[in-house]
Amino acid sequence: MTREKPKNLWLSRWGFILAATGSAVGLGNIWKFPYITGEYGGGAFVLMYLACILAIGIPVMMTEIALGRRGRGSPIDAIARVVRENNGNPLWRGVGLMAMLAGFMILCFYVVVDGWAFAYTWKMLSGALVASSVDSLAQVFEGHNANPWQLGGWSVLVSLLTLWIVGKGVQAGVERAFRWMMPGLAVMLLVLVGYAWTSGSFRQGFDFLFTFDATKLTGEALLAALGHAFFTLSLASGAILTYGSYLPDGQSIARTTFVVAIADTCVALLAGLAIFPVIFANGMSPSAGPGLIFMSLPLAFQQMPMGTLFGVLFFAMVSVAALTSAISMIEAVVAYLNEKYGVSRGRAALASGAVLLVISLLAMLSFNVGAEWKLFGTTLFDGLDYLTSRWMMPLGGILMVILAGYCLRPEIMRNELGLGAAGYALWLFMVRYVSPVLILMVFLNALGWLSF
Ligand code: PHE
Ligand code: NA
Repeated sequence: MTREKPKNLWLSRWGFILAATGSAVGLGNIWKFPYITGEYGGGAFVLMYLACILAIGIPVMMTEIALGRRGRGSPIDAIARVVRENNGNPLWRGVGLMAMLAGFMILCFYVVVDGWAFAYTWKMLSGALVASSVDSLAQVFEGHNANPWQLGGWSVLVSLLTLWIVGKGVQAGVERAFRWMMPGLAVMLLVLVGYAWTSGSFRQGFDFLFTFDATKLTGEALLAALGHAFFTLSLASGAILTYGSYLPDGQSIARTTFVVAIADTCVALLAGLAIFPVIFANGMSPSAGPGLIFMSLPLAFQQMPMGTLFGVLFFAMVSVAALTSAISMIEAVVAYLNEKYGVSRGRAALASGAVLLVISLLAMLSFNVGAEWKLFGTTLFDGLDYLTSRWMMPLGGILMVILAGYCLRPEIMRNELGLGAAGYALWLFMVRYVSPVLILMVFLNALGWLSF
């Protein structure tokens, strides 16, 4: 069987690492990680999350990249091709479909959050956040959300930017920007951690993140930690699999995976170390919810020298980091429409964009006029996040490791991963036993069918 040629989306051999890191590092690290860590009470949650990255995230990412490169296509087609090579059940394609759907559903609320980041860049620049107190910052955030035109305007802007980049296929240009953005973001976070160090509450923030409190080990927190490991590494959502399909043969999947996972984890931990001391120093509650970083970081910027400059740069970099994640969420859909129906990238972006605009605007209304529109007790914004992170991605992940670990001929993954004997044995052990058993236990526990 002849293998498909990879389509060239990147400039250099660093292309995949940059694109995958660009996908992974985003609002998941800087917005979601701190706010859910705050909600679930700190250290125990952080430890569970780190364990999930190691035991599940890394093996799943390797598997996903390998499946993508082997199948050379959008998630549905790549999985279909690999399965066909093994005379397997064509229904496995469904895993690709679910992943693609999850990526798209995430995008529908992600653009709202990235809209916050863009809006806060502007608010920092225009001086709207100067001389504000904890209370006034909470009011700014609430006021921003209460106005659907304002909130919707920013999220439409983010959606259009995303669609434009993906439609034009200019990810390479974004990759070039990302090359200096990533170190820039890291420097910004270090500046913030440096400030946090002087805030007088560094120790308290540090302890909050890293002190293990067993009473916080609830089933719900465990499910959230598992889901966040998937979310933050962009797993089982079409992104990594599709990017993997563009990865040239011969590049090491394991090395790439480690680089991406380490970078992603460092950014999340730095964000936590930057934010929690500021929260404690100003007497805020760590469980303030989705507005946590927007209500706390401006306090740090207004107290540090050249704070406005740093603040503008910080929120601008977060906005762009989120944009590189957003484009990866829709890449699978565009690749699929392009491959399957021969639709040009531009038209594919236009078609999926129409759906995106409608759903994201409905999600945006969850913060104002639609706050009471609830299905199963949650708003659309929360529901999209909950369904994808807690259920769809871990389910996609468990199915992919079962496919790779049990159903495919062993040579396929062995060739694709190109590991030494010990490395391959370790990967196989993880995808056969460790990852699927852990995911299953978390699921059963969350459903109340298993307690420990
Ligand atoms: N990993 C991204 C983040 O942490 C979010 C993401 C999820 C991107 C799924 C692509 C697919 O911000
Ligand atoms: Na991430």
